[in-house]
Amino acid sequence: MVFSSAILDTYMSNVQSSKIVAYASLFFAAIGVVKYVGFGLKLTNLFLQLYILSGKNLKKYGAGKGAWALITGASDGIGKEFSLQLAKKGFNVVLVSRTESKLVDLSSEINRKYKVETKILPFDFAENKSSDYAALAALIEPLDVTVLINNVGQSHSIPVPFIEVDDTELTNIIAVNDIATLKVTKLVIPKLIAKKMGLILTMGSFGGLFPTPYLSVYSGSKAFLQHWSTALAAELKPNGIDVELVLSYLVTSAMSKIRKSSTLIPNPKMFVASTLSSIGLQRGAQGRTATSTPYWSHAIFQFFVESTVGIWSGIVSNQNLQMHIAIRKRALKKADREKKGL
Ligand SMILES: NC(=O)c1ccc[n+]([C@@H]2O[C@H](COP(=O)([O-])OP(=O)(O)OC[C@H]3O[C@@H](n4cnc5c(N)ncnc54)[C@H](OP(=O)(O)O)[C@@H]3O)[C@@H](O)[C@H]2O)c1
Repeated sequence: MVFSSAILDTYMSNVQSSKIVAYASLFFAAIGVVKYVGFGLKLTNLFLQLYILSGKNLKKYGAGKGAWALITGASDGIGKEFSLQLAKKGFNVVLVSRTESKLVDLSSEINRKYKVETKILPFDFAENKSSDYAALAALIEPLDVTVLINNVGQSHSIPVPFIEVDDTELTNIIAVNDIATLKVTKLVIPKLIAKKMGLILTMGSFGGLFPTPYLSVYSGSKAFLQHWSTALAAELKPNGIDVELVLSYLVTSAMSKIRKSSTLIPNPKMFVASTLSSIGLQRGAQGRTATSTPYWSHAIFQFFVESTVGIWSGIVSNQNLQMHIAIRKRALKKADREKKGL
């Protein structure tokens, strides 16, 4: 009798453990299915959004009907292209950046090419002067502003270890990238709420998406914009206002110091065209609400890294570190050659 009860016990415990194994297998299989279905959906979405679907029509924000777009950092690079392409689509434009002569030239170019109005305001955001913000508030007060492009940005002059970042550079990066973006947005939001519609695009960067050693202050300042902009998007959605953070890898410009475009590095014209035609589509920023990585090669690059090693992986961080150490060495050598007049 004792013998048969022992067999029964062993049998029951085998049944129990095989049940546990079965449930565990089912559980892990379910996780696998969810993961692979999720990946499949994101991949499908990426390609639909890159090659089939179109973004929101800018007419929704009053293009061609007297509405105004305000662009910061408007006189050069990506901001200049936003100004030109928004004017071409029928928006009157408020152009804000440091150098008055560049703003005057751009304003004349826009007036010559397109039948829209322009206003300019020379404004150094690094100075963070309340009188400048008051001047901007007064300038836009009578205007029907429905689109804000928070484009202005400053990076480190060359890659630099955080401990050696010059204090003025540190303060300027935060004042230009973060404080200016927040303050200008605060001036514009009441107008959009009153209209129950509008668009706020803010330029993020892969430098903020990936923690970037040797560009640490710039990287942090752009990462800040990701959370702020996404939070703002949720707050303003009930008011009919679209808020989007725009992510980008390198684009040819004075800031990137790259002149020649390539598959991975578009020029500002190509980059802005892809941005304005994909409002509301995440493209490469799959899974990130109110965020878009509009340019096709940047989108595929981001999707690949996020789906494999991940943005926060040590591999990516170390790769980034080595790359920026090499860029710093080259920049220091170049500065040395220039100093010697070679
Ligand atoms: N280029 C890239 O590879 C890249 C990649 C990712 C993200 N982004 C982001 O895209 C945005 C535009 O970059 P970009 O490459 O087009 O830059 P850019 O060619 O250097 O142009 C910067 C613009 O901002 C203005 N500006 C600079 N500092 C200013 C200040 N303190 N106050 C007011 N205006 C100021 C400049 O005006 P003045 O000429 O009058 O100084 C110029 O119009 C930035 O937010 C940047 O972080 C760029």
